[in-house]
Amino acid sequence: MPETTSDDRLTPDLWRRVDAYLTETLVGHEAGLDDAVADQSAAGLPPIEVAPVNGKLLHLIARMSGARRVLEIGTLGAYSTIWLARAVPADGRVVTIEAEPHIADIARANLDRAGVGEKVDILLGRGADVLPTLVDQEPFDLVFIDADKESNTIYIDWAARLGRAGTVVVVDNTVRGGEVANPATENPQIIGVQRGLEMLGRDPRFDATAIQTLDAKGYDGIALALVV
Ligand code: DHB
Ligand code: MG
Repeated sequence: MPETTSDDRLTPDLWRRVDAYLTETLVGHEAGLDDAVADQSAAGLPPIEVAPVNGKLLHLIARMSGARRVLEIGTLGAYSTIWLARAVPADGRVVTIEAEPHIADIARANLDRAGVGEKVDILLGRGADVLPTLVDQEPFDLVFIDADKESNTIYIDWAARLGRAGTVVVVDNTVRGGEVANPATENPQIIGVQRGLEMLGRDPRFDATAIQTLDAKGYDGIALALVV
């Protein structure tokens, strides 16, 4: 019996098989979600939506926290948006921000086909421009940050401003193949991720942690924070 914590058998083949096993066993397939990924791909958009196990994780975090109002920054083909919209109650809402009009059109079609279109507002524009327009809305219960990494600190700041004590903040792509732990990186996206994590660690508005993920998208991670 190998040690359960042994990592000497960890190869890409192993973790890919494990991800496939977990996805088959716990997530399965649904037309609305699979079609969204297919249409996103057909439209030439990059396959950078969250992995199915993490889409379902977002969905469960939303349900576990009783989220009724969800803010997503970075829509892409709306794969994660569909997971989140399916987690909020009938009178709930997902507000998702997308900078590119032609991407927002694909997202809108995917949301409508998945049957959640009426729960979702797609706001067109850069996060930094759109987020200040939301100050008069009811606070958000959950914020998912998954856009240009260079702006993570701006988005994390807005998550606190547009949230309340108890709001859950999830930040995608916080490990980036391990580059997050490279203090000498000159990649502006990695630096953006690092600044975001440092903010979550230091800013008294948050209590945060992060988990590393190995899944269909490779080696990455998510940060999880609570607005206190
Ligand atoms: C990439 C992945 C993401 O999930 C994302 O939000 C942005 C970029 C990538 O792999 O390049
Ligand atoms: Mg992402």
